[in-house]
Amino acid sequence: MLYPALMLWSALAAVSSAAGLATNLAAEAFRNAPPAITYSMAKPIQQVTSTKLVKVAPQNVQMLRPVNGVYSKRYNPRSAAALLGSHQRLAGGFGYQNITSTTAYGTQYSVDAQFNGHPLSLILDTGSSDTWAVARSFHCIDYSGQSLPQDICGFGDTYPEPFQYGRTDPETHLFIQYGDGEIVTGPMGFSDVTLGNITVKKQQVCLANTTYWYGNNQTSGLLGLAFPSLTNAYLGDTHEHNWDNQVLYSPLFTSMVSQGLVDPVFSIAIDRNASTGMLAFGGIAPAPGLDWSRTASLDMIITNVISIPETAYQYSFYTIIPDGWYFDKTTNTKKVPYIVDSGTTLNYLPPQLADSINAAFDPPSIYLWTYGAYFTACDAIIPNVAVILDGIKFTLNPMDLIYRNLVDPLTGLCMTAFADGGAGPYILGDAFMQNALVVFDVGQAKMRFIPRQRY
Ligand SMILES: *[C@@H]1O[C@H](CO)[C@@H](O)[C@H](O)[C@H]1NC(C)=O
Ligand SMILES: *[C@@H]1O[C@H](CO)[C@@H](O)[C@H](O)[C@H]1NC(C)=O
Ligand SMILES: *[C@@H]1O[C@H](CO)[C@@H](O)[C@H](O)[C@H]1NC(C)=O
Ligand SMILES: *[C@@H]1O[C@H](CO)[C@@H](O)[C@H](O)[C@H]1NC(C)=O
Ligand SMILES: *[C@@H]1O[C@H](CO)[C@@H](O)[C@H](O)[C@H]1NC(C)=O
Repeated sequence: MLYPALMLWSALAAVSSAAGLATNLAAEAFRNAPPAITYSMAKPIQQVTSTKLVKVAPQNVQMLRPVNGVYSKRYNPRSAAALLGSHQRLAGGFGYQNITSTTAYGTQYSVDAQFNGHPLSLILDTGSSDTWAVARSFHCIDYSGQSLPQDICGFGDTYPEPFQYGRTDPETHLFIQYGDGEIVTGPMGFSDVTLGNITVKKQQVCLANTTYWYGNNQTSGLLGLAFPSLTNAYLGDTHEHNWDNQVLYSPLFTSMVSQGLVDPVFSIAIDRNASTGMLAFGGIAPAPGLDWSRTASLDMIITNVISIPETAYQYSFYTIIPDGWYFDKTTNTKKVPYIVDSGTTLNYLPPQLADSINAAFDPPSIYLWTYGAYFTACDAIIPNVAVILDGIKFTLNPMDLIYRNLVDPLTGLCMTAFADGGAGPYILGDAFMQNALVVFDVGQAKMRFIPRQRY
């Protein structure tokens, strides 16, 4: 549908005044960014009218499966909570103190993909941008570089062939050292990659040939959906990873868009209890119970964590600035950035806010140092809590606010969904995401949220 010029004009005017507002908001919110964390406003990669986004993408939906079965309590080293926690500890900060308790990190999701028709299960990672699978003859190494039997690295099926379309020219390799020390390196080349019923032609990927990896015996690599600017291909020998040898390339989702296969939008719906979910490319996942009349739209901010000195690797997270929180008839409108992360279970809030919301449970929650989390009676009366996005209250389902299966054996108390995020940035994890469909509108540099009715 074509818009009359006048409408387009007023839409543009609205955009630029909103951008001014956003800059003020952002300046306030970013003022106290902890060291080695940078924020930037995402730039739209395509000017489209906003009506275009509200499109369901029924054929291009990919189911998300939890790695290791139902509701995993296992450590997810790629959750924003884990990465920020290790970052904060290294920076000598206080936040996320003991989030090393395995319960608090969250779930890893896998997606089914194909490289040149070979099925592979890949970890979904919204914090990194490269896509790789492990090659059949890969070397499994330990932290000191000593060779180990392949099965110690714990991959699922390996990719059996050379690159479908050969290597990059000039030859490049991937080098990533993740926050917890895991290393993946190998040559980069081109392959067709199929995902959610979409085949991206001649995508640049890595076939990892050397890995220091703690696998789950199920997945064979990783699919990176972070903002397109952070890829990790390098010239030179296999261990080279200096920025001056870096050769940026188009990551999978960017290629999908530039090949005209989908609109520049993807969306994620996480189901309660973190057991399953949906990832849709080019539009809205067909999650049940969406309340379209209350769609919130916020500027997309990119948080970069230039972490952990030896990693030479920058994590990049999709981030928003909420208007505030509503709880117990109180409204807190302090502006701070929140990463939106499906790999993290809990919500991580500024210390005082986490304390106040936890105090609103009846009985009030107490902080247990051993876990770095708050606990209350498993049958506590749960306060009404909402996060306010774009003026709209997103009420969290009380079911998501106490974890009845995360019980401290000493006290018999249950963990709540609001943890102390220390110096930040803060996180809206699954305890929030289960209540809304999240649209990553990379094209217009907006994060959009559509509330889901109680389910
Ligand atoms: C892929 O799309 C076709 C129609 O285009 C549909 O019949 C099929 O069910 C889709 N497959 C998946 C896995 O969504
Ligand atoms: C892995 O690939 C690189 C090219 O990126 C090559 O130089 C190296 O010898 C390979 N290593 C192994 C162990 O196959
Ligand atoms: C993977 O399988 C090996 C045995 O082959 C086992 O020792 C290991 O614990 C498994 N790892 C996971 C994460 O399940
Ligand atoms: C989630 O788990 C709770 C118990 O912790 C259970 O009562 C509820 O039915 C589960 N919901 C879903 C959708 O499985
Ligand atoms: C972390 O937990 C341990 C017990 O496991 C406790 O001794 C320690 O004080 C805690 N540290 C912090 C900073 O919370």
